[in-house]
Amino acid sequence: MTAAPLIIGHRGASAHAPENTIAAFRLAIESGADGIEFDVRCAADGVPVVIHDANLERTGLRHDNISDLTSKQLGKIDVGSWFNAKFPKKASPAFALETVPTLANTLKSFAGFEGLFYIELKADDRDFRDLAKAVCDEIRNSPLLPRIIVKSFKLAAISEVRHHLPGVATAALFSPKIMDFLRRRKHILAIAHEFGASQISLHKSLVTAGLAKRSSLLNIPVTVWTADNPRWIKRCRKLGIRALITNDPAKLLETR
Ligand code: G3P
Ligand code: CA
Repeated sequence: MTAAPLIIGHRGASAHAPENTIAAFRLAIESGADGIEFDVRCAADGVPVVIHDANLERTGLRHDNISDLTSKQLGKIDVGSWFNAKFPKKASPAFALETVPTLANTLKSFAGFEGLFYIELKADDRDFRDLAKAVCDEIRNSPLLPRIIVKSFKLAAISEVRHHLPGVATAALFSPKIMDFLRRRKHILAIAHEFGASQISLHKSLVTAGLAKRSSLLNIPVTVWTADNPRWIKRCRKLGIRALITNDPAKLLETR
């Protein structure tokens, strides 16, 4: 058995507060999470903002693309009311005051937090270079840099990050779709290495004892997403998984 996994709040404590908001990050940290995970995209003014989707349909309840609005405009858009409407039992009037945070504001708001910051670059072929550079420019001089892990499904974005900021920790993200292209899970490690990632982050369905063992032999930390079942704590200990990304850090921390 290895050490218990670190517990990381997926989009904050997103089971209990609107995802990717300051409220969700605060709740995760207050719950005792070892870190927070969040998604970033480029706003129209090139500023990295914290939001999962490419548009505001789901969390802003309006028809705008993130790339068409400036960070200032996004900073006025309510991304909490959708949660109150969808989860009335968990609703809070304060959530309706949550707006799209910038990356800079998020890091500033939690400057005193001593845990980890997993920053996921949500990028495509058109914007991954701009996003990688903008994020690196934002974090380069941050005192939080040693505790930041930049990650992406867009593996070329990882290479860009390594180019701009060679010392930052990076994680290559893999969803189950990767197995449409690979015969063996072990090739995941070669791909991550090829793009310069220092860690891997696997969807829970990709985790096997063999892959975990190879990662540990190569000294490549593994993070698993998104696991809300406390049974994952034991599984991670057995396999030597470093961190678990969960929507409900409080629940997992109860059994850790
Ligand atoms: O940490 C990885 C996980 O966040 C990736 O999926 O869609 O929640 O960003 P998604
Ligand atoms: Ca994410």
